[in-house]
Amino acid sequence: MSPKQTRRNYRGRAIDVSYDVRRCIHAAECVRGLPSTFNRQHVPWIEPNRSPPADVANVVMRCPSGALRFERKDAGLPEPIAARNTITLVKNGPLYVRGEVKIVSAQGEILHRDTRISLCRCGASNNKPFCDNSHIASGFKSGQPTAGHRVEMGMGGTLQITPTENGPYQMLGNIELIDAAEGIVFRGKMIRLCRCGASGEMPFCDNSHLHNGFEARSW
Ligand code: SF4
Ligand code: FES
Repeated sequence: MSPKQTRRNYRGRAIDVSYDVRRCIHAAECVRGLPSTFNRQHVPWIEPNRSPPADVANVVMRCPSGALRFERKDAGLPEPIAARNTITLVKNGPLYVRGEVKIVSAQGEILHRDTRISLCRCGASNNKPFCDNSHIASGFKSGQPTAGHRVEMGMGGTLQITPTENGPYQMLGNIELIDAAEGIVFRGKMIRLCRCGASGEMPFCDNSHLHNGFEARSW
């Protein structure tokens, strides 16, 4: 079953913006980056015509969750796909993923395509596999990333992510795992990342989900 569609459109002359409240994790890149267009005190809170379309597009692309998207109606370019697939470990929080992302079921069905997503890794989100900020209330602690994994070259191309039923994210493709403090934690082509919040080898899955009763649908 697909997640509920909650995306709303905000139309402008040269650019349309859409926003999905269920994907927003209040990182505030938008309201800090371009308060003339993104202003929570205004109704509607997104007004594309109040700023140059290129500025609107640039700020939308900073949104780590993919809650914001844009569509240019002028000669401006669409959002480029990142040349490197990156997964950034947010301390005590989600995984920020950028690249040519496909979320794929265990049976190989493509469930979702995106360029920016924020994935739950505390196990408590009500909008799995996406983060909904539940890590704050659940007191999730991500700890120091485990080192010592094999390192190969990673770059772009399709990054296939399968949220396995009651288990980790299985990722295939060129992968670069980045910790803000430690730098590159992993580069390679296949990885299993914990999404139950209980691994003793964060951010990697150590099969703790088999013993802690973690329940999550594939999609
Ligand atoms: S940048 Fe994206 S995630 Fe952050 S507040 Fe704006 S819409 Fe929400
Ligand atoms: S998903 Fe957390 S240990 Fe496997």
